Amino acid sequence: MNQQDRLPTIITIFGGSGDLAHRKLIPALFNLKLDGHLPEKYVILGLGRTNYSHKTYRDKLKEGVAKFSRRGQVDEDQWKDFSSCIHYMDSDIFDDKSYQDLNQEIANIEASWSEKANLIFYLAIAPGLVEPVAKNLGKSGICKNIERSRIVVEKPFGHDLASAQSLNAVLTDIFNESQIYRIDHYLGKDAVQNMLVFRFANILFEPIWNRKYVEHVQITVSETVGVGDRGGYYDTSGALKDMIQNHVLQLLCFAAMEPPISFAADEVRNRKLDVLRAIRKYEPREVFEHTARGQYSAGWMKGEKVKGYREEDKVDDKSNTETYAAVKFYVDNWRWQDIPFYVRSGKCMPEKMSVITLQFRQVPHRIFPGGHAENMQPNRIVISISPDTGIRVRFQAKRIGLDMDLDLADLVFNYSEEYHDHQPEAYETLLHDVMNGDATLFMRSDEVEAAWSVVMPILDAWSMQTSKAMPQYPVNSWGPETAERLIAKDGFHWITLPIKHD
Ligand code: BG6
Repeated sequence: MNQQDRLPTIITIFGGSGDLAHRKLIPALFNLKLDGHLPEKYVILGLGRTNYSHKTYRDKLKEGVAKFSRRGQVDEDQWKDFSSCIHYMDSDIFDDKSYQDLNQEIANIEASWSEKANLIFYLAIAPGLVEPVAKNLGKSGICKNIERSRIVVEKPFGHDLASAQSLNAVLTDIFNESQIYRIDHYLGKDAVQNMLVFRFANILFEPIWNRKYVEHVQITVSETVGVGDRGGYYDTSGALKDMIQNHVLQLLCFAAMEPPISFAADEVRNRKLDVLRAIRKYEPREVFEHTARGQYSAGWMKGEKVKGYREEDKVDDKSNTETYAAVKFYVDNWRWQDIPFYVRSGKCMPEKMSVITLQFRQVPHRIFPGGHAENMQPNRIVISISPDTGIRVRFQAKRIGLDMDLDLADLVFNYSEEYHDHQPEAYETLLHDVMNGDATLFMRSDEVEAAWSVVMPILDAWSMQTSKAMPQYPVNSWGPETAERLIAKDGFHWITLPIKHD
């Protein structure tokens, strides 16, 4: 769709003066503008409690763009052109008058265009505020045109199954499901979407993508950073809620799902939902056998002393919140029965990486003699989302020379080598899709609830343990020993670096 074909659009950001708008949303919208993906007529309305003039607000956003946009420094003329369409409004999300003002502002903009606009309401606000804003939007009647108005809700979507169900009930009472865009920014990443292309646009891989050939699957989403200044939020959450319930389970869905009949939003989401429903729900006594958790303790990272989690700001010094979680899941269906999916995610680890690995079985019969085949290892497909984005297929090759010696080799697809254009940021893709009304990469209410149902037994069992029992792992390590045991008892080990033949 080119710029001219797009309907005029008004993007209202609740939390317009907050961190998400500053770091992600405005840089993404600016890049969309520069790449010709914003409609010709658009307005971005930032709403917040701070009293800013339009100019002060724009200047503040410009700093964020210079610092966080993939393009770096801001070209003055381009910024002027883009930011002339950014307005700021003082607003109190609990006050009806703010919604009347918003309604009036939207009406004025539409009158000046002599056209109705698509209305996007982006809720970049604390989770507890989503419900009151949604209710007030409903009451104000601004969103009554189902085709033309959309609401975007950030994660975390609820803090457990019951709260997610109740939030869904509130939202679907006010909006049609097709108006609700629940964000999981991992789905905006090219390498994640590429999994669908890799699997369903090639004949080569799908025939072996099942329990007959795959021995096990691993998903690692590790971060080098700790909780930083998010201690207050994080201590009420933890690795299982913050990363596994959403991002990691979404990756698992993409790895495990059946082919959808088309790329239509509901077809893709139906197949993901099948996976979430098929994931085995553990009994309380099984939880400890299939999971591991831990908290980072003080140590050294890249020559710097780093605090332990319990010493972080706004974190309880007896906190029972995990900063690392590992789970062995099973997907109980025809394709994956009995194949373990080991997933782990943690903070303060030695590398930032998001990697999905399919470990294949050994060949059924070895014909090459032991000495020559010392290096023989089963095939592996490694899908890397970060730090590099791409795919590696590991196979055996004959080493050059007179003897029949085997060696490991990789077939490599790397986005940065293949394409020289900048990769869009996840938020660019997602905002672009919201504007186009394409919900494929967004969570439907039943998906969110099914994902909560998967983690609830684990959360419940963990909450019965005391904080004294929380295993510690030093910063800059790969997590607690219990996580090593979780996988080692099945005869496997965590695959750490996609690049190495470990
Ligand atoms: C967010 C989590 O959803 O994802 C953060 O709340 C985490 O705790 C972040 O740091 C990781 O995202 P990415 O894209 O940097 O891997």
